[in-house]
Amino acid sequence: MKKILLQGAMDIETDYFVEQVKNLPDYEYYKENGFEFHMATAGSKRYIVSTTGMGTVKAAMATTFALERFHPTLVVNQGTAGAQARDLSVGDVILVEAAVNINQMSMPKKELGEGSDPFSWEKGSQTVYYEADRALMELYSKMEYTSGRMRKGKVATGDIFSRETDRIIWLEENYGTCAEDMETAAVFEVCEAFGTPCTALRIISNNELKDAEFNEETARLLQEYIWKITYEFL
Ligand code: 5AD
Repeated sequence: MKKILLQGAMDIETDYFVEQVKNLPDYEYYKENGFEFHMATAGSKRYIVSTTGMGTVKAAMATTFALERFHPTLVVNQGTAGAQARDLSVGDVILVEAAVNINQMSMPKKELGEGSDPFSWEKGSQTVYYEADRALMELYSKMEYTSGRMRKGKVATGDIFSRETDRIIWLEENYGTCAEDMETAAVFEVCEAFGTPCTALRIISNNELKDAEFNEETARLLQEYIWKITYEFL
């Protein structure tokens, strides 16, 4: 049986999945150590829906716990993201090829009174691009997405919500990423350590370069798309 762990950081990023599994006959709610899961079976698929909480630490904890407790055969991490490219609009979807943790940085020495210059900071020695499972990624590109455009790309993950235009462009140029979130790289890292195939999709919820503020309706659009593919094609 396929066991699919469906993750989102915030309630608005898992509410549609939870509604779907609640409608299935063997629906089960599980809570341990503050981690909550909504689970059910449909045909040959077992769904495990997890709201991980925001940020790399929570995402890593929730993923580790779920992998240990339920042994999913695949993981789908998804949710909202901020655009780093001007040509990305709210509602566009990034099929994540790879994710990099942008928390890991080192900086040149400056003495007292010399200030701080984040543009001189460099990637840390631990900076790694974690790859999505290719086969899963291709599968999730199968169905037409109609609420915006869909493209493959890399995402930058950090415990930071960037709102400075120059910084956003700097991140895009230095990391080769097109969007920013707070969980994907952490989840990829844990899944790689466990050898569990993982894929990620992110919907653009805000684009500071175009003054597009966070739009929370995007969270549901992406879940609807992912649920349909997972249910029908996986
Ligand atoms: N920067 C960082 N994270 C973002 N998210 C949406 N937009 C952004 C952004 N511009 C996602 C993160 C986090 C929450 C704030 O939404 O993954 O969970």
